[in-house]
Amino acid sequence: MKVLITGGSGQLASYLFEKMKDDYDVTGIDTRLPIHEAAMGRVINADIRDLDAMIKASRDSDVIIHTAAQVSVQRSTENPSYDADINVMGTINTLKAAMESEVGKFIYISSAAVYGDPQYVPIDEAHPLDPKSFYGVSKLCGEYYVRAFGSTFDLDWIIIRPFNFYSPRADPSSPYSGVITKFAQATKEGNRLCIEGDGLQTRDFLHAKDVARLVSIAASSEVSGETFNCGSGEKTSIRELADLFSTISPEKVEVVHTAPRTSDIRDSVGEVSKAERLLGFRTKVGLEEGLRDFFQ
Ligand SMILES: NC(=O)c1ccc[n+]([C@@H]2O[C@H](COP(=O)([O-])OP(=O)(O)OC[C@H]3O[C@@H](n4cnc5c(N)ncnc54)[C@H](O)[C@@H]3O)[C@@H](O)[C@H]2O)c1
Repeated sequence: MKVLITGGSGQLASYLFEKMKDDYDVTGIDTRLPIHEAAMGRVINADIRDLDAMIKASRDSDVIIHTAAQVSVQRSTENPSYDADINVMGTINTLKAAMESEVGKFIYISSAAVYGDPQYVPIDEAHPLDPKSFYGVSKLCGEYYVRAFGSTFDLDWIIIRPFNFYSPRADPSSPYSGVITKFAQATKEGNRLCIEGDGLQTRDFLHAKDVARLVSIAASSEVSGETFNCGSGEKTSIRELADLFSTISPEKVEVVHTAPRTSDIRDSVGEVSKAERLLGFRTKVGLEEGLRDFFQ
């Protein structure tokens, strides 16, 4: 099977290469060069918005795994047009290339941000879609294009909505990095952990390795036309997360509380039985084990 991964130099893609490269012919496309070993020498340097480059890269592919995205909620607020350009126009382009190259299956990495403020938890796939952030809107728009291309052109697709995933491969220098990356960096540098608000807001954290495992199962399965949450199914408050860092870190960890983030989602945890039922997937890496990865 020949697989093209967009965003091939990213965090998730690095674990996808590791998982899939021995069994499949896997290449990637990205605007930056990979720094992780498994992806090295396999990623073409190009933009998903460049249709010719996308068609060339996807030629003879059986599956496209579309991970490339503008990934920051904060940046989408600062520049919604840039966010839509990559996440909507870039996704349309990737779908057009998939049609042009007669790719059999399209796997779209969406986000749990498409749900917006939970009306109930745990959030299942049937939960209303009402994104709060521009990022959530652009990821949801991408989902609708995937479905419409699927029905218009008879393309097999799977949509995956990850909750908050982490790994030591997320870029710590990015001003938009997630809470675990920030906490890990602060802990290593002996700085205080900044909790925004009371810290009782909860999230569903999972290791990027587990996301890659679900995507890889989806790529080789017969399942098509389905949307899956990808989470641990367990909620962790930001305070509990800070406590875990204190437990794991060899140094003393201090915590400060700062102003709450505006329009932050209070509680988020996924209902994840559909992926288990149809694809036999459950997360394997527990949070404490995953966090220890940062100190090795
Ligand atoms: N990290 C999370 O917690 C999380 C949660 C839910 C969904 N997601 C989604 O998972 C996917 C992967 O996330 P990640 O954490 O690996 O992000 P990442 O930033 O590590 O990887 C994304 C990659 O896409 C590339 N890219 C961006 N714009 C591009 C363009 N125009 N052309 C080609 N490449 C481009 C980037 O250079 C980067 O290497 C994204 O689609 C993101 O929206 C992430």
